[in-house]
Amino acid sequence: MQSWNEEQWAWRYEAWYEQGPGYQAASREKALLQRLLAKLGPVKTVLEVGCGTGYFTRWLAAQGLQAVGLDLSAAMLAVAQAKGATVGYLRGDATALPFDDETFDLVAFITTLEFIASPMTALREAARVAKRGLLLGVLNRFSWTAFRRCVRGLFRATIYRQARFYSVRDLIRLVHQALPRRRFTLAWDTTAGSVHLLWGEFIGLSVRFEERE
Ligand SMILES: C[S@@+](CC[C@H](N)C(=O)[O-])C[C@H]1O[C@@H](n2cnc3c(N)ncnc32)[C@H](O)[C@@H]1O
Repeated sequence: MQSWNEEQWAWRYEAWYEQGPGYQAASREKALLQRLLAKLGPVKTVLEVGCGTGYFTRWLAAQGLQAVGLDLSAAMLAVAQAKGATVGYLRGDATALPFDDETFDLVAFITTLEFIASPMTALREAARVAKRGLLLGVLNRFSWTAFRRCVRGLFRATIYRQARFYSVRDLIRLVHQALPRRRFTLAWDTTAGSVHLLWGEFIGLSVRFEERE
């Protein structure tokens, strides 16, 4: 069996988005994220935490946002940097973000909370550096597709063998637990559209902060 190094895995990960089911899934995810982005009001700057190869960071930049991507993995970031210069990338840990309070309008996690060892701490950190809100996208625990994506080996590179999937309810609960003293408005949707809503393969959640008193 072929043994791939981390950067080869990262290129394979990026390639999954470029055709077939990966391309179609990503198109549905982007349409969903775009709807939720509109609910967050005027935002100009965004940090994508766990940006991986930068696929969604580039997409956020293409939406007109000034985008920065942060990831723990040097291999993923090497691919992100090779893919384009419109975005700034840096290596860092979601649980200790190297930014001052309220540096960005928005902090996004796209298919990343599932892989972070302490998602609660990561959400608190995100809420610290975000002025207006958070944009979350996760693979649905109740979706067979999510399971297949996992098993297919896309997420088997050494740094993230473990994944924890969420339901809509789990995700909302996590946000409330992480931010007990923050006032916010939530909006969510899945890629399934109006039929079988709770089973859509990808869940999007926007967390719009209310003004601090
Ligand atoms: C499945 S990938 C998602 C990448 C990208 N957001 C996307 O949707 O294509 C999850 C990413 O989270 C990153 N990650 C995991 N734990 C992290 C942490 N504590 N801090 C920063 N990034 C982390 C991994 O390195 C990996 O690139």
